[in-house]
Amino acid sequence: MKGVVLAGGTGSRLHPLTQITNKHLLPIYDRPMIQWAIEAVVKAGITEVMLVTGGAHAGDFLRLLGNGNDVGLDRLSYAYQDGPGGIAQALGLAERFAENEPVLVMLADNVIERSIAPMVNAFRAEPTGARILLSPVERPEHLRHLGVPEIGPDGRVVRILEKPEEPPSAYAVTGVYCYDAQVFSVIPTLIPSARNELEITDVNNHYASLGVLQYDVLEGFWGDAGESIDAYYAVNDFVRAHGANKG
Ligand code: DAU
Repeated sequence: MKGVVLAGGTGSRLHPLTQITNKHLLPIYDRPMIQWAIEAVVKAGITEVMLVTGGAHAGDFLRLLGNGNDVGLDRLSYAYQDGPGGIAQALGLAERFAENEPVLVMLADNVIERSIAPMVNAFRAEPTGARILLSPVERPEHLRHLGVPEIGPDGRVVRILEKPEEPPSAYAVTGVYCYDAQVFSVIPTLIPSARNELEITDVNNHYASLGVLQYDVLEGFWGDAGESIDAYYAVNDFVRAHGANKG
């Protein structure tokens, strides 16, 4: 199984900080944000990763991470995304890198208290379809900024709504996803959304419609440090006090 860490986009919600650097290079406690995502992937037993980024500061990732050996990777490849065409478009750039293997995809602005290894191991045991990680979120006004699953009476995800006015459950879809290699055939069929992006939620809904979308529910803290400046500081405060990616 290979890892794909996504660090493109414009980071517009953190302007003006992101006018002078890439969002994923901003500090979270004692290291650049990207390093928490890479550590999460490494601790899930993945040693080959492609980092997708874009914009004017892409070269700084190479300066920070080099060939990835210092952060526990055997191989770190890079792809450049020409413009923020969406999370699914960024993932599509990793098709050849994936070499028909399943992939763990992680959004580099997501920070998680506990290890993601249990979810990744569950997918390794049954590596077909897709698997997502949900986090309980109580406040509807928070869920309105996220992907939210509708869960049917049988406990399966019926579909996911992206940034819904009326959240259909009290769970957020986090930025951690496992896919079989078919994902690279799904991406070219997507239609850009109203914000002109290829949405990862549409990828997940494709798998949900086939009845092959599984999920795990995360325990402990989960934060999207790119959601707002307050979320960025909430993640910083949490990690400073408690750490992240703990076993
Ligand atoms: O954090 C979890 C949420 O992430 C999910 O609940 C949503 O369903 C999912 O759509 C996503 O929502 P966001 O609005 O937070 O996505 P954002 O545009 O902030 O992008 C998240 C990361 O994806 C970003 O840190 C880098 C990567 N990305 C994003 C875009 C738009 C790329 O690599 N390329 C892109 O073009």
